[in-house]
Amino acid sequence: MTRTAVYPGSFDPITNGHVDIIRRSLQVFDRVIVAVSFNPHKDSSWFSSDERVEMIRETFRAEGERVSADAFSGLLVDYAAAKGATAIVRGLRAVADFEYEFQMTSMNRHLRPQVETVFMVAAESHFYISSRLVKEVASLGGNVAGLLPDQVLPRLLARARDRRP
Ligand code: PNS
Repeated sequence: MTRTAVYPGSFDPITNGHVDIIRRSLQVFDRVIVAVSFNPHKDSSWFSSDERVEMIRETFRAEGERVSADAFSGLLVDYAAAKGATAIVRGLRAVADFEYEFQMTSMNRHLRPQVETVFMVAAESHFYISSRLVKEVASLGGNVAGLLPDQVLPRLLARARDRRP
């Protein structure tokens, strides 16, 4: 039996914190589908969902079929069920993440009790990394090297330059 997990998020863009969680998930699951959430009506993202998916695929090219990336809209639990996934993976950093995650997990369980949510704790060296902060620092000219996959860093810096007034 193939154990498949869905790792959902905005991934705007993928960071080394996400990479760490995906690598940990591969120790527990046979396949991880990295699912980029997009909402066509409410989007303030720096990258389109296609660009976000592409950056994830580039980052995990070496893992072959074990890691795939895809964009989804609509309910996460429906997407997970349609993909045959038995679990949703979420990463935890600080205690601050907990309340939001607890609420989402409980709602998802209410909607579809068959899909379990599993939490992975990020490596301590990644506790402070988030896509939001990385974008903020990059847009203010700060150094974000080492916080993102090598393939993603130049794309983020170019986008930060394009967005400067
Ligand atoms: O990385 P993020 O932005 O914290 O991820 C949030 C995400 C994508 C996991 C969440 O917004 C989500 O599941 N969206 C899909 C819509 C849905 O199923 N909403 C109900 C969840 S309780």
